[in-house]
Amino acid sequence: MASENKVKIAVLVSGGGTNLQALIDAQKSGIIKHGEISLVVSNNPEAYAITRADQANIPSEIISSKEYNEQATFEAKLIETLEKNNIELIVLAGFMRILSANFTSRYPKRIINVHPSLIPAFCGKGFYGLKVHEAALAYGVKVTGATVHFVNEIPDGGEIILQKSVCVKKGETAESLQQRVMRQSEWVILPRAVELVSRDIISERKEK
Ligand code: GAR
Repeated sequence: MASENKVKIAVLVSGGGTNLQALIDAQKSGIIKHGEISLVVSNNPEAYAITRADQANIPSEIISSKEYNEQATFEAKLIETLEKNNIELIVLAGFMRILSANFTSRYPKRIINVHPSLIPAFCGKGFYGLKVHEAALAYGVKVTGATVHFVNEIPDGGEIILQKSVCVKKGETAESLQQRVMRQSEWVILPRAVELVSRDIISERKEK
């Protein structure tokens, strides 16, 4: 498919960017056919994800949370950046800043997020990164996983697109569980969900 017929995707990151890497790899291997990662935006100038974008020749922008600590100015800058790049689909891949209803309502069904648990367990405000896996282990669940969902005004509350479960092993640490959930679930379902949503956006375009 020619690149002008693909959905322009922005990936928003804050840290290591392994989910961004999974998306880049999925684009190369053809799992993502209907979309193209055209921009990476980080709210953290130190994020290794920016190096991953550079290595894949994907343009990146930093909108520093420190510099733009006020939510409205941060989001205004983000909107300006997305519009300048004609972005149609926003993927939150380890993006650690909550977006307000003012922002999310501008992009209904056009923002997706990956969360490292089986929603509705261990999600919402305060549940991010390693904390999610610590909470899952403290509760004693035997099965966890990851969820990809649309983003609305409720943190981790939007419609679920895909989920994949992962068994919790005996003697597991939060770190080991995090790694397995990423490898067995997040890096698998995030690219698939991006392809599903991109394909739908392309079909909607054709109907118009
Ligand atoms: C991932 O496990 C992602 O699901 C999680 O942070 C990690 C980021 O890793 N996101 C959240 O907790 C959001 N609520 P990455 O930067 O290597 O992709």
